[in-house]
Amino acid sequence: MKVLGIVGSPRKQGNTYELIKYTLDKIKSGGFDTELVQLAGKKIQPCTACNTCKEIKKCSIDDDLWELFEKMLSADGILIGSPVYSGTAPGLLKSLLERTSWLTYTTGRKFERKIGAPIVVAARAGHNFTHAELLMWFHAKGFYMVGSNYWNIAFGWEKGDVVNDKTAYRTLDCLADNFIYLLKHLKEA
Ligand SMILES: Cc1cc2nc3c(=O)[nH]c(=O)nc-3n(C[C@H](O)[C@H](O)[C@H](O)COP(=O)(O)O)c2cc1C
Repeated sequence: MKVLGIVGSPRKQGNTYELIKYTLDKIKSGGFDTELVQLAGKKIQPCTACNTCKEIKKCSIDDDLWELFEKMLSADGILIGSPVYSGTAPGLLKSLLERTSWLTYTTGRKFERKIGAPIVVAARAGHNFTHAELLMWFHAKGFYMVGSNYWNIAFGWEKGDVVNDKTAYRTLDCLADNFIYLLKHLKEA
């Protein structure tokens, strides 16, 4: 079974990357395959509401989204990491959420019964809203959502700041343990 970690920041190798990588490494040590993808540098346009996907079961926009959508479909679990930008998720990640959202409706709800969790980082505020925003995406796609000992949030401004947030890492340890537990049970089911 495989877990895909999506780093939703437009900044490469930043705080979101650190948190997703840490959690994926823990899940890997539990015996599962993992893959990390950074959205930074990728071209993912917003949905244009052309509704072509209803007809041909594919997105009409020719950019980096489709390849990523296929990776998401082949994963058993997905972690989505997001920095907070102006109190919410950055536009690049929102483009991914809205297009994959529409594609799951038009191609047959293929995220149903996968496992998912958000991880959010901000310098000062906006974590809860962004965390909730991502949970709502997971919920409406039919994911099993994994809990932890707190919301999966961390503090950091400059690249690497987040490694000083020890409380966040304790939350990610618990999240990874719960993720592994559920993966094992689903594997047996
Ligand atoms: C355009 C922009 C908007 C931001 N808005 C917020 C905000 O609303 N609240 C906050 O606490 N931090 C905000 N930040 C700071 C980032 O959330 C913070 O630097 C985070 O660690 C970035 O994660 P990354 O290193 O993965 O890119 C903003 C940063 C940028 C570039």
